[in-house]
Amino acid sequence: MTSMISIRALNQYFGQSHTLWDIDVDIQKNQCTCILGRNGVGKTTLMQSIMGLAPNVTGDIHFDGQNIAALSAERRAPMGIAYIPQGRQIFSQLSVEENIRTGFFASRTKHNKVPDFVYELFPVLSEMSRRRGGDLSGGQQQQLAIARALVLDPTVLIMDEPAEGIQPTIVQQIGEVIKTLVREKNMTIVLVEQKLAFARGVGDQYVILDRGRLMVKGDMSELDDSIIKTYLTV
Ligand SMILES: Nc1ncnc2c1ncn2[C@@H]1O[C@H](COP(=O)(O)OP(=O)(O)O)[C@@H](O)[C@H]1O
Ligand SMILES: [Mg+2]
Repeated sequence: MTSMISIRALNQYFGQSHTLWDIDVDIQKNQCTCILGRNGVGKTTLMQSIMGLAPNVTGDIHFDGQNIAALSAERRAPMGIAYIPQGRQIFSQLSVEENIRTGFFASRTKHNKVPDFVYELFPVLSEMSRRRGGDLSGGQQQQLAIARALVLDPTVLIMDEPAEGIQPTIVQQIGEVIKTLVREKNMTIVLVEQKLAFARGVGDQYVILDRGRLMVKGDMSELDDSIIKTYLTV
């Protein structure tokens, strides 16, 4: 296995509050790594740290061999790391197609063609391309947020709780999309997830955080009941 993102001795602070403690983790190339843990343990903050969006981060973050820890968020995304924030954050007044095109803002080149595979993954979005983002269901908005993140054909896709508050049929479709992106598009996926069944269905590796620390990591097939009971059950 080859490491696509390699994090060493990462610490993060919100003011006086020490949120992430000495995190070491490798995100393996062309796999789906699930970041698990109860509410408030630091999952989102870790993703924001990778993207350059969290304040007061120390430590090393290597992406594809290059240390990106000192780079601004504006420099990181165009290197091929796409981020879908928790809660989707699409533009409700813009059309579906305009929302997808906002994905080009992260680019420094003059891209403007939405790759065909994006609409192939989400046929519903091509049917609804002229509708306003705000008219879509929660699940469709999540699909739209994924589509927007894919327009630059990223190497790594980071998704923060994409299944949160979404109807089961669309959760299942999103699971299929994740598998397709890993197998057919060679993508590396980091999936923050609280729905264990969903994570198990799509994940190759798991990482568990608890109170800002990395507690256990391994192959998804080795995630057993005692680990689940200790770190994940509420
Ligand atoms: N902008 C912020 N300012 C201060 N504290 C924050 C901020 N964002 C998150 N936190 C705190 O950091 C901790 C980790 O939060 P978060 O990364 O959102 O957890 P998770 O995604 O695992 O639910 C929590 O205690 C949360 O209250
Ligand atoms: Mg979160």
